[in-house]
Amino acid sequence: MTSTWVNHAISEINADYQRSADTHLIRLALPAFPGIHLYLKDESTHPTGSLKHRLARSLFLYGLCNGWIKEGTPIIEASSGSTAVSEAYFARLLGLPFIAVMPSCTARRKVEQIAFYGGRCHFVDSACEIYDVSEMLAKELNGHYMDQFTYAERATDWRGNNNIADSIFRQMASEPCPVPDYIVMSAGTGGTSATIGRYLRYQGHATQLMVVDPQNSVFFDYWQSRDATLKSRVGSKIEGIGRPRVEPSFIPAVIDDMMRVPDAASVATIQWLETILGRKVGASTGTNVWGALQLAAKMRDEGRQGAIVTLLCDSGERYLETYYNPQWVEHNIGDLTPWQAEIKRLCA
Ligand SMILES: Cc1ncc(COP(=O)(O)O)c(C=O)c1O
Repeated sequence: MTSTWVNHAISEINADYQRSADTHLIRLALPAFPGIHLYLKDESTHPTGSLKHRLARSLFLYGLCNGWIKEGTPIIEASSGSTAVSEAYFARLLGLPFIAVMPSCTARRKVEQIAFYGGRCHFVDSACEIYDVSEMLAKELNGHYMDQFTYAERATDWRGNNNIADSIFRQMASEPCPVPDYIVMSAGTGGTSATIGRYLRYQGHATQLMVVDPQNSVFFDYWQSRDATLKSRVGSKIEGIGRPRVEPSFIPAVIDDMMRVPDAASVATIQWLETILGRKVGASTGTNVWGALQLAAKMRDEGRQGAIVTLLCDSGERYLETYYNPQWVEHNIGDLTPWQAEIKRLCA
Protein backbone atom coordinates (compact mmCIF):
# COMPACT_ATOMS: atom_id res chain seq x y z
CA MET A 1 0.00 0.00 0.00
CA THR A 2 1.29 3.46 -0.87
CA SER A 3 1.88 5.67 2.16
CA THR A 4 -0.06 8.89 2.55
CA TRP A 5 3.15 10.90 2.36
CA VAL A 6 4.25 9.22 -0.91
CA ASN A 7 0.76 9.83 -2.38
CA HIS A 8 0.98 13.45 -1.34
CA ALA A 9 4.52 13.82 -2.75
CA ILE A 10 3.48 12.40 -6.14
CA SER A 11 0.48 14.73 -6.35
CA GLU A 12 2.69 17.72 -5.40
CA ILE A 13 5.01 16.94 -8.32
CA ASN A 14 2.10 16.39 -10.69
CA ALA A 15 0.45 19.65 -9.61
CA ASP A 16 3.75 21.48 -10.14
CA TYR A 17 3.88 19.97 -13.65
CA GLN A 18 0.29 21.08 -14.27
CA ARG A 19 1.28 24.67 -13.42
CA SER A 20 4.25 24.56 -15.82
CA ALA A 21 4.37 25.53 -19.49
CA ASP A 22 6.21 23.76 -22.30
CA THR A 23 9.53 25.20 -23.53
CA HIS A 24 9.77 27.14 -26.80
CA LEU A 25 11.07 25.85 -30.09
CA ILE A 26 12.99 28.76 -31.63
CA ARG A 27 13.54 28.92 -35.41
CA LEU A 28 16.82 30.57 -36.36
CA ALA A 29 17.18 32.46 -39.62
CA LEU A 30 20.38 31.33 -41.38
CA PRO A 31 20.58 33.16 -44.73
CA ALA A 32 23.74 31.21 -45.67
CA PHE A 33 21.73 27.96 -45.69
CA PRO A 34 18.76 28.48 -48.02
CA GLY A 35 15.97 25.96 -47.45
CA ILE A 36 17.66 24.53 -44.34
CA HIS A 37 15.88 25.39 -41.09
CA LEU A 38 17.64 25.27 -37.74
CA TYR A 39 15.59 25.01 -34.54
CA LEU A 40 16.60 25.35 -30.89
CA LYS A 41 14.50 23.70 -28.20
CA ASP A 42 14.94 26.27 -25.45
CA GLU A 43 15.29 24.30 -22.23
CA SER A 44 16.64 27.30 -20.35
CA THR A 45 13.10 28.48 -19.66
CA HIS A 46 12.25 25.73 -17.16
CA PRO A 47 11.82 27.09 -13.60
CA THR A 48 15.31 25.81 -12.67
CA GLY A 49 16.95 26.99 -15.88
CA SER A 50 17.95 23.83 -17.77
CA LEU A 51 16.86 20.62 -19.47
CA LYS A 52 17.58 18.91 -16.14
CA HIS A 53 14.26 20.12 -14.76
CA ARG A 54 12.61 17.33 -16.77
CA LEU A 55 15.10 14.74 -15.49
CA ALA A 56 14.81 15.82 -11.85
CA ARG A 57 11.01 15.50 -11.99
CA SER A 58 11.32 12.01 -13.51
CA LEU A 59 13.99 10.86 -11.02
CA PHE A 60 11.90 11.95 -8.02
CA LEU A 61 8.80 10.19 -9.39
CA TYR A 62 10.89 7.08 -10.15
CA GLY A 63 12.36 7.08 -6.63
CA LEU A 64 8.96 7.61 -5.01
CA CYS A 65 7.20 4.91 -7.05
CA ASN A 66 10.07 2.45 -6.44
CA GLY A 67 9.74 2.96 -2.68
CA TRP A 68 13.24 4.46 -2.45
CA ILE A 69 12.17 7.93 -1.31
CA LYS A 70 10.07 8.24 1.83
CA GLU A 71 9.13 11.02 4.20
CA GLY A 72 12.35 12.66 5.46
CA THR A 73 14.73 10.67 3.18
CA PRO A 74 17.89 12.73 2.54
CA ILE A 75 18.54 12.95 -1.22
CA ILE A 76 22.15 12.83 -2.44
CA GLU A 77 23.22 13.38 -6.03
CA ALA A 78 26.41 13.36 -8.10
CA SER A 79 26.23 16.21 -10.58
CA SER A 80 28.07 18.78 -12.66
CA GLY A 81 25.55 21.26 -11.29
CA SER A 82 22.48 21.58 -13.50
CA THR A 83 20.78 18.40 -12.26
CA ALA A 84 21.55 19.37 -8.66
CA VAL A 85 19.86 22.77 -9.10
CA SER A 86 16.71 21.08 -10.43
CA GLU A 87 16.73 18.34 -7.79
CA ALA A 88 17.19 20.91 -5.02
CA TYR A 89 14.00 22.56 -6.32
CA PHE A 90 12.01 19.30 -6.13
CA ALA A 91 13.53 18.32 -2.77
CA ARG A 92 12.32 21.64 -1.37
CA LEU A 93 8.88 21.07 -2.90
CA LEU A 94 8.69 17.78 -0.95
CA GLY A 95 10.44 19.06 2.19
CA LEU A 96 13.42 16.68 1.84
CA PRO A 97 17.07 17.43 2.73
CA PHE A 98 19.30 17.60 -0.37
CA ILE A 99 23.07 17.31 -0.84
CA ALA A 100 24.83 17.82 -4.19
CA VAL A 101 28.26 16.25 -4.71
CA MET A 102 30.04 18.29 -7.37
CA PRO A 103 33.49 19.17 -8.69
CA SER A 104 34.83 22.30 -6.97
CA CYS A 105 35.09 24.08 -10.35
CA THR A 106 31.28 24.05 -10.83
CA ALA A 107 29.89 27.44 -11.91
CA ARG A 108 29.28 29.68 -8.88
CA ARG A 109 25.82 30.63 -10.14
CA LYS A 110 24.72 26.97 -9.93
CA VAL A 111 26.12 26.65 -6.40
CA GLU A 112 24.15 29.75 -5.40
CA GLN A 113 20.98 28.35 -6.94
CA ILE A 114 21.33 25.04 -5.07
CA ALA A 115 21.70 26.99 -1.82
CA PHE A 116 18.73 29.17 -2.78
CA TYR A 117 16.55 26.06 -2.95
CA GLY A 118 17.83 24.96 0.46
CA GLY A 119 20.31 22.34 -0.80
CA ARG A 120 23.85 21.74 0.48
CA CYS A 121 26.94 21.38 -1.72
CA HIS A 122 29.71 18.89 -1.03
CA PHE A 123 32.73 19.61 -3.24
CA VAL A 124 35.30 17.15 -4.57
CA ASP A 125 38.47 17.89 -6.54
CA SER A 126 37.65 16.06 -9.74
CA ALA A 127 34.65 14.80 -11.71
CA CYS A 128 35.82 11.18 -11.20
CA GLU A 129 35.19 11.35 -7.43
CA ILE A 130 31.53 12.37 -7.43
CA TYR A 131 30.15 8.82 -7.66
CA ASP A 132 31.95 7.18 -4.72
CA VAL A 133 31.52 10.19 -2.44
CA SER A 134 27.77 10.32 -3.19
CA GLU A 135 27.40 6.63 -2.39
CA MET A 136 29.34 7.04 0.84
CA LEU A 137 27.28 10.04 1.97
CA ALA A 138 24.04 8.24 1.19
CA LYS A 139 25.16 5.29 3.36
CA GLU A 140 26.29 7.55 6.19
CA LEU A 141 23.05 9.54 6.24
CA ASN A 142 20.73 6.64 5.48
CA GLY A 143 19.71 8.62 2.43
CA HIS A 144 18.95 7.90 -1.22
CA TYR A 145 21.65 8.35 -3.88
CA MET A 146 19.61 9.51 -6.86
CA ASP A 147 22.34 8.40 -9.35
CA GLN A 148 21.27 10.24 -12.49
CA PHE A 149 24.12 8.63 -14.44
CA THR A 150 22.52 5.20 -13.99
CA TYR A 151 18.82 6.00 -13.91
CA ALA A 152 18.35 8.91 -16.36
CA GLU A 153 17.62 6.62 -19.31
CA ARG A 154 15.03 4.52 -17.48
CA ALA A 155 13.31 7.16 -15.34
CA THR A 156 12.18 9.06 -18.45
CA ASP A 157 9.11 7.88 -20.32
CA TRP A 158 10.68 7.49 -23.77
CA ARG A 159 7.54 6.39 -25.66
CA GLY A 160 5.85 9.77 -25.36
CA ASN A 161 3.94 11.30 -22.46
CA ASN A 162 5.13 14.77 -23.43
CA ASN A 163 8.82 13.91 -23.17
CA ILE A 164 11.26 16.24 -24.93
CA ALA A 165 11.15 14.33 -28.24
CA ASP A 166 7.35 14.22 -28.25
CA SER A 167 7.25 17.95 -27.56
CA ILE A 168 9.70 18.70 -30.41
CA PHE A 169 7.63 16.74 -32.93
CA ARG A 170 4.39 18.40 -31.82
CA GLN A 171 5.97 21.85 -32.13
CA MET A 172 7.38 21.03 -35.57
CA ALA A 173 3.97 19.99 -36.95
CA SER A 174 3.26 23.22 -38.88
CA GLU A 175 6.82 23.83 -40.10
CA PRO A 176 7.89 23.53 -43.76
CA CYS A 177 9.77 20.29 -42.91
CA PRO A 178 7.93 18.84 -39.90
CA VAL A 179 10.14 15.74 -39.65
CA PRO A 180 13.69 17.00 -39.05
CA ASP A 181 16.56 15.40 -40.95
CA TYR A 182 18.65 15.47 -37.79
CA ILE A 183 18.33 15.98 -34.06
CA VAL A 184 21.66 16.97 -32.53
CA MET A 185 22.36 16.46 -28.81
CA SER A 186 25.33 16.23 -26.49
CA ALA A 187 25.56 13.72 -23.64
CA GLY A 188 26.12 14.13 -19.90
CA THR A 189 24.21 11.20 -18.48
CA GLY A 190 23.18 10.31 -22.04
CA GLY A 191 19.57 10.24 -20.84
CA THR A 192 18.26 12.87 -23.24
CA SER A 193 19.91 11.28 -26.28
CA ALA A 194 18.56 7.86 -25.19
CA THR A 195 15.03 9.27 -24.91
CA ILE A 196 15.23 10.97 -28.31
CA GLY A 197 16.80 7.96 -30.03
CA ARG A 198 14.26 5.50 -28.68
CA TYR A 199 11.36 7.83 -29.48
CA LEU A 200 12.55 8.20 -33.11
CA ARG A 201 12.60 4.43 -33.53
CA TYR A 202 9.30 3.87 -31.74
CA GLN A 203 7.55 6.45 -33.93
CA GLY A 204 9.31 5.23 -37.07
CA HIS A 205 10.67 8.67 -37.95
CA ALA A 206 13.42 8.99 -40.58
CA THR A 207 15.21 11.57 -38.41
CA GLN A 208 18.84 10.74 -37.57
CA LEU A 209 20.23 11.26 -34.08
CA MET A 210 23.67 12.89 -34.05
CA VAL A 211 25.42 13.02 -30.66
CA VAL A 212 28.21 15.57 -30.26
CA ASP A 213 30.95 14.99 -27.70
CA PRO A 214 33.49 17.43 -26.20
CA GLN A 215 37.22 16.84 -25.58
CA ASN A 216 38.21 14.62 -22.62
CA SER A 217 35.02 12.57 -22.87
CA VAL A 218 34.97 8.81 -23.44
CA PHE A 219 31.54 8.66 -25.11
CA PHE A 220 32.79 9.08 -28.70
CA ASP A 221 35.42 6.32 -28.40
CA TYR A 222 32.95 4.08 -26.58
CA TRP A 223 30.39 4.53 -29.36
CA GLN A 224 33.03 3.42 -31.87
CA SER A 225 34.66 0.59 -29.87
CA ARG A 226 31.95 -0.45 -27.38
CA ASP A 227 34.74 -0.73 -24.80
CA ALA A 228 32.91 0.06 -21.55
CA THR A 229 36.15 0.18 -19.52
CA LEU A 230 37.34 3.40 -21.17
CA LYS A 231 38.40 6.15 -18.75
CA SER A 232 39.68 9.69 -19.10
CA ARG A 233 41.93 11.18 -16.42
CA VAL A 234 40.86 14.75 -17.19
CA GLY A 235 37.30 16.00 -16.76
CA SER A 236 35.37 17.76 -19.54
CA LYS A 237 35.66 21.54 -19.65
CA ILE A 238 32.22 21.90 -21.17
CA GLU A 239 30.01 21.89 -18.07
CA GLY A 240 27.22 19.34 -18.12
CA ILE A 241 28.49 17.17 -20.98
CA GLY A 242 31.30 14.73 -21.67
CA ARG A 243 32.22 12.18 -19.01
CA PRO A 244 35.47 10.56 -17.79
CA ARG A 245 33.85 7.10 -17.73
CA VAL A 246 31.18 5.28 -19.72
CA GLU A 247 27.90 6.10 -17.98
CA PRO A 248 25.22 3.39 -17.75
CA SER A 249 22.60 5.82 -19.10
CA PHE A 250 24.50 6.36 -22.35
CA ILE A 251 22.89 4.02 -24.90
CA PRO A 252 25.15 3.84 -27.97
CA ALA A 253 22.92 1.68 -30.19
CA VAL A 254 20.20 4.34 -30.55
CA ILE A 255 22.70 6.89 -31.93
CA ASP A 256 23.07 7.13 -35.71
CA ASP A 257 26.25 9.18 -35.76
CA MET A 258 28.67 10.95 -33.39
CA MET A 259 31.01 13.90 -33.81
CA ARG A 260 33.84 15.12 -31.59
CA VAL A 261 33.74 18.87 -31.04
CA PRO A 262 36.84 20.81 -29.87
CA ASP A 263 36.12 22.89 -26.75
CA ALA A 264 37.33 26.06 -28.52
CA ALA A 265 34.76 25.43 -31.29
CA SER A 266 31.95 25.17 -28.67
CA VAL A 267 32.96 28.46 -27.06
CA ALA A 268 33.42 30.23 -30.43
CA THR A 269 29.92 29.03 -31.36
CA ILE A 270 28.25 30.55 -28.26
CA GLN A 271 29.84 33.91 -29.12
CA TRP A 272 28.51 33.69 -32.69
CA LEU A 273 25.11 32.47 -31.48
CA GLU A 274 24.73 35.55 -29.29
CA THR A 275 24.94 37.71 -32.43
CA ILE A 276 21.98 35.98 -34.07
CA LEU A 277 19.96 34.96 -31.00
CA GLY A 278 20.51 38.09 -28.90
CA ARG A 279 21.17 35.97 -25.81
CA LYS A 280 23.96 34.18 -24.03
CA VAL A 281 23.80 30.39 -23.78
CA GLY A 282 25.85 27.73 -21.95
CA ALA A 283 28.80 26.03 -23.63
CA SER A 284 27.01 22.68 -24.16
CA THR A 285 24.60 24.56 -26.42
CA GLY A 286 27.67 25.73 -28.35
CA THR A 287 28.72 22.09 -28.79
CA ASN A 288 25.22 21.24 -30.05
CA VAL A 289 25.01 24.17 -32.46
CA TRP A 290 28.52 23.55 -33.81
CA GLY A 291 27.40 20.02 -34.70
CA ALA A 292 24.19 21.35 -36.24
CA LEU A 293 26.15 23.83 -38.39
CA GLN A 294 28.40 21.05 -39.70
CA LEU A 295 25.32 19.05 -40.71
CA ALA A 296 23.71 22.12 -42.30
CA ALA A 297 26.89 22.66 -44.35
CA LYS A 298 26.84 19.00 -45.41
CA MET A 299 23.20 19.27 -46.48
CA ARG A 300 23.95 22.47 -48.40
CA ASP A 301 26.92 20.80 -50.17
CA GLU A 302 24.70 17.88 -51.15
CA GLY A 303 21.99 20.25 -52.44
CA ARG A 304 19.53 19.08 -49.78
CA GLN A 305 16.91 21.13 -47.94
CA GLY A 306 15.27 20.27 -44.62
CA ALA A 307 15.37 20.83 -40.88
CA ILE A 308 17.79 20.30 -38.00
CA VAL A 309 16.72 20.50 -34.35
CA THR A 310 19.07 20.88 -31.41
CA LEU A 311 18.84 21.91 -27.75
CA LEU A 312 19.52 25.16 -25.97
CA CYS A 313 20.40 23.38 -22.72
CA ASP A 314 20.86 26.34 -20.36
CA SER A 315 21.48 30.07 -20.29
CA GLY A 316 24.88 31.78 -20.48
CA GLU A 317 24.18 33.93 -17.43
CA ARG A 318 25.37 30.98 -15.34
CA TYR A 319 28.79 31.17 -16.95
CA LEU A 320 29.68 34.88 -17.00
CA GLU A 321 32.84 34.15 -14.97
CA THR A 322 33.99 31.33 -17.24
CA TYR A 323 32.94 31.02 -20.92
CA TYR A 324 32.10 34.74 -21.08
CA ASN A 325 35.32 35.83 -19.38
CA PRO A 326 38.12 36.25 -21.99
CA GLN A 327 40.91 35.60 -19.43
CA TRP A 328 39.29 32.38 -18.26
CA VAL A 329 38.78 31.27 -21.85
CA GLU A 330 42.41 32.03 -22.78
CA HIS A 331 43.66 30.02 -19.79
CA ASN A 332 41.27 27.09 -19.93
CA ILE A 333 40.09 26.75 -23.52
CA GLY A 334 42.76 28.40 -25.68
CA ASP A 335 42.72 30.33 -28.93
CA LEU A 336 39.25 30.71 -30.44
CA THR A 337 40.41 32.53 -33.60
CA PRO A 338 40.55 29.54 -36.00
CA TRP A 339 37.07 28.44 -34.92
CA GLN A 340 35.62 31.93 -35.21
CA ALA A 341 37.05 32.06 -38.75
CA GLU A 342 35.55 28.66 -39.55
CA ILE A 343 32.07 29.74 -38.40
CA LYS A 344 32.41 32.92 -40.48
CA ARG A 345 33.38 30.81 -43.50
CA LEU A 346 30.47 28.38 -43.00
CA CYS A 347 27.90 31.12 -42.51
CA ALA A 348 29.17 33.65 -45.09
C1 LIG B 1 24.06 22.17 -19.42
C2 LIG B 1 23.85 20.74 -19.82
N1 LIG B 1 23.78 20.42 -21.12
C3 LIG B 1 23.60 19.14 -21.52
C4 LIG B 1 23.50 18.08 -20.62
C5 LIG B 1 23.36 16.65 -21.11
O1 LIG B 1 22.13 16.04 -20.86
P1 LIG B 1 22.00 14.50 -20.51
O2 LIG B 1 22.43 14.31 -19.09
O3 LIG B 1 20.55 14.17 -20.70
O4 LIG B 1 22.87 13.70 -21.43
C6 LIG B 1 23.59 18.39 -19.28
C7 LIG B 1 23.54 17.33 -18.29
O5 LIG B 1 23.90 17.53 -17.13
C8 LIG B 1 23.77 19.74 -18.87
O6 LIG B 1 23.87 20.07 -17.56
